[in-house]
Amino acid sequence: MELLMKPHRTPGMLITFCGLDGCGKTTMIRRLVEILEKQGCSVLLTKQPTDFVRKSRIFRTYMDSPDHDAYDYRSLSLLAASDRVQHSNRVIAPALAQGKVVISDRYFYSCLANLHARGFLRDRWIYEIARDIPQPDVAFFLDVDVDTAIRRVRGREEEKDRYIDVELQHRLRREYREMAAGRNGNLVPTDTSEEESFGLIWTAVQAILSEKDGGVRYA
Ligand SMILES: Nc1ncnc2c1ncn2[C@@H]1O[C@H](COP(=O)(O)OP(=O)(O)OP(=O)(O)O)[C@@H](O)[C@H]1O
Ligand SMILES: [Mg+2]
Repeated sequence: MELLMKPHRTPGMLITFCGLDGCGKTTMIRRLVEILEKQGCSVLLTKQPTDFVRKSRIFRTYMDSPDHDAYDYRSLSLLAASDRVQHSNRVIAPALAQGKVVISDRYFYSCLANLHARGFLRDRWIYEIARDIPQPDVAFFLDVDVDTAIRRVRGREEEKDRYIDVELQHRLRREYREMAAGRNGNLVPTDTSEEESFGLIWTAVQAILSEKDGGVRYA
């Protein structure tokens, strides 16, 4: 099924970043925010899912331990989807309406990728919900091999012993690569230098900024 979202038709611009843990989202976003702010753009940097879900017991159980049989994954998926609907429509959409450049560290795609990667391939509800949330102007999918991504995560002192479901990472990578081929998707390899990856991102963002000429708000 094709993932269709709602065109936002506002003066703002929505840029999302998805991909495996350690693929480089935060690194690329930091560079993008810096350069956009230097140009005087009004930027809202945000993250999905929000802390409401991140701090929940069901989310933590899935993230932090191999034993999560006590919880049905669909229940977490619905909780995360609810959080994304709320955040997309009550935080992101108003900022877009004000002409801001909104950058989201993860977006609805991550919800879908996880649902599929965990074997729920026939759930249509997630596509129905997606139709009512703002469609990004560009959705970046940062792509690196699973071993490298894991090495990067483990390289962080606080995550050196973190539980990682390696097989799941392989399935997620396949899902993200497939989604990158969809509407407004943009696959960016991050196995090269940061400069090279960021160059691809900045070229794509500049193209949209010039299309939106006069729309995006400058401070
Ligand atoms: N081409 C590249 N693009 C992005 N990051 C790169 C690249 N090459 C090397 N790196 C390194 O990979 C690491 C990526 O970490 P980062 O925190 O940005 O990932 P993340 O996707 O935000 O992870 P998480 O999902 O766990 O938050 C950084 O240490 C960064 O310096
Ligand atoms: Mg990050």
